[in-house]
Amino acid sequence: MPPMPATAAVRVRRAELSDLDDLVALEESSFAPDRLSRAQYRRHLDSETATVLVASANHRRFLGTAVVFFRKGTHVARLYSIATHVEARGKGVGSALLDAAEHVARRRRCKVLRLEVRTDNDAAIRLYERLGYVRIGRYERYYGDGADAWRYEKRLG
Ligand SMILES: CC(C)(COP(=O)(O)OP(=O)(O)OC[C@H]1O[C@@H](n2cnc3c(N)ncnc32)[C@H](O)[C@@H]1OP(=O)(O)O)[C@@H](O)C(=O)NCCC(=O)NCCS
Repeated sequence: MPPMPATAAVRVRRAELSDLDDLVALEESSFAPDRLSRAQYRRHLDSETATVLVASANHRRFLGTAVVFFRKGTHVARLYSIATHVEARGKGVGSALLDAAEHVARRRRCKVLRLEVRTDNDAAIRLYERLGYVRIGRYERYYGDGADAWRYEKRLG
């Protein structure tokens, strides 16, 4: 993949069926345990209670993704997953995806966006704290490999 210029404008859209291959490939390169399968992505694309977002820039159709879950009867949305291509990191793609996830949650009248992150995932923790997420707790042995998670939330103004 050619390098992405730091000035490229990032756009975020809803994922489509034609993104499935990219979604699964990025998932496999980003997460070891606790991956979303192709079938799960396929279901989330059609789901009332999930939104799958995709970031692109200029002629690069797929730079990263974020998955947001909603549940009936609660104003709390959940950022289930966020990942950007290694080559595109540090250029605002993750921030744009998180921003868009918040926008989608606000449009669904959610008041809060919550997420979990591995306690050793410094890059993700910096992203969340920079965008105003506040640490609200810890889950011991949350992930499939036994790693702990921080829980974060942001109140959506
Ligand atoms: C966490 C993750 C999504 C961040 O994505 P990203 O695209 O690198 O995010 P951004 O580019 O918006 O922000 C990263 C850094 O680049 C900086 N940055 C953003 N745009 C920039 C630009 N145009 N020029 C220079 N730096 C920039 C940000 O300030 C930020 O700096 P910080 O690390 O000091 O906070 C990415 O590292 C990733 O996919 N990791 C693997 C999967 C993962 O762990 N996901 C989270 C758990 S679910």
